[in-house]
Amino acid sequence: MSHILAFDQGTTSSRAIVFDAGLTAKASAQEEFTQHFPQSGWVEHAPADLWATTLATGRAALDKAGLTAGDIAAIGITNQRETTLVWDRETGEPIHRAIVWQDRRTAGICDALKADGHEPMITARTGLLLDPYFSGTKLKWLLDNVDGARARAEAGQLIFGTVDTFLIWKLTGGASHVTDATNAARTLMYNIADGAWDAEICALLGVPMAMLPEVRDCASDFGTTDPALFGAAIPILGVAGDQQAATIGQACFQPGMMKSTYGTGCFALLNTGDTMVTSQNRMLTTIAYQLDGKVTYALEGSIFVAGAAVQWLRDGLGIIEAADQTQALAETADAGQDVILVPAFTGLGAPYWNAECRGAVYGLTRGSGPAEFARAALQSVGYQTRDLLQAMQADWGAQGGDAVLRVDGGMTASDWTMQFLADITGAAVDRPHILETTALGAAWLAGMRAGICPDMDGFAANWARERQFTPQMDEGTRSAKYAAWGRAVQATLLV
Ligand code: G3P
Repeated sequence: MSHILAFDQGTTSSRAIVFDAGLTAKASAQEEFTQHFPQSGWVEHAPADLWATTLATGRAALDKAGLTAGDIAAIGITNQRETTLVWDRETGEPIHRAIVWQDRRTAGICDALKADGHEPMITARTGLLLDPYFSGTKLKWLLDNVDGARARAEAGQLIFGTVDTFLIWKLTGGASHVTDATNAARTLMYNIADGAWDAEICALLGVPMAMLPEVRDCASDFGTTDPALFGAAIPILGVAGDQQAATIGQACFQPGMMKSTYGTGCFALLNTGDTMVTSQNRMLTTIAYQLDGKVTYALEGSIFVAGAAVQWLRDGLGIIEAADQTQALAETADAGQDVILVPAFTGLGAPYWNAECRGAVYGLTRGSGPAEFARAALQSVGYQTRDLLQAMQADWGAQGGDAVLRVDGGMTASDWTMQFLADITGAAVDRPHILETTALGAAWLAGMRAGICPDMDGFAANWARERQFTPQMDEGTRSAKYAAWGRAVQATLLV
């Protein structure tokens, strides 16, 4: 019982990693699954795919590590957040494909709620904005649009969950209908000041509260796996949404510490401690983690396209064959051209929150080609991160001090991209040795609860920097470049 099995159920793939008690990764397995795009702006996942890939990768990671379920002290789960599922309490049958966080179909519902003046109340209680990103309006859409769903929900036959809840329900053979505070905080229905589902918001969305899971601490007892799945029952002891798990994995435990994760999108979280900071700059207020009943809050900036811009270079434009070719191509770009990509492929997230605008490229010349597009894609990640940092620092004020950004996720392997990030933000960028911080965070929660991993201070002491990138760009160039980005965004918002 000296190992931990961590599941990281993400937007494009499911992964499982086996860690030892020292939190060294021993083996991992990963499977991609199909993305469904039934209409422009709609994104869905088949619940059966989320479950099958989770189970298969869990079994494969155990096999590769040469371990059995009896060697596993605990399971930790981290997951793509906000993605919304509804299923039958008795049969387990989902009523629809999962509506993914990126899906914009509920823009009209959000607009109507805003027009009726509900946004200030919802923001004050949930820390979120009325944007299709969050689960609440997706759940309303399902109840309004799937035949018979509302009647079945009102009769107590249907239950709701984000991906963590669905996976726990499947893993426990339907015994646990639970979530953790970080995932609850992304639903638009959870009052993060009171730590409870909000009856008034649920009524506004027409959501019967009996559908909602029970909310627990991030490190607590979420149930025990059905022994038939892995050969023995394993307790599930750690759960956090993926961006919060990365915040934990990066050991951002002190107020003022900040991490930014570069996956499909980019999500920056600033630990604000006990203080629920209300953003004046369109950032989100959220729960970083909840341990022993105590909530630690964060400010979050969420941008929808980071690594997805590189995927677009590969799959949309066909100018690279693999993501890791992007840096080399970008380095050959003409220094005399300033091509800017605003990657609003699914609208823009923080701080603009515009669901309707779409991407644009500016500054093209007759000589612009693949290299300039590659550089523009990588630079768009830096520009968007500066938008977030600037807004968060304005909200957090003087308490911020000199900004240091701890980074993780696939794109951070590119030195060039990290140097541009430091240059354009003017912040030091710290890249840790362990880039798998999301799974690490979930594993630590579970292992700490199981009593085989160090406590918070011990875990934080183990965090180690692999490299720091410091700003090298002169202030004049930085300001001019960022001003050009600002003009490009404003033009994109007008189209
Ligand atoms: O809020 C969405 C986020 O949790 C998705 O993360 O890593 O699956 O793109 P990722």
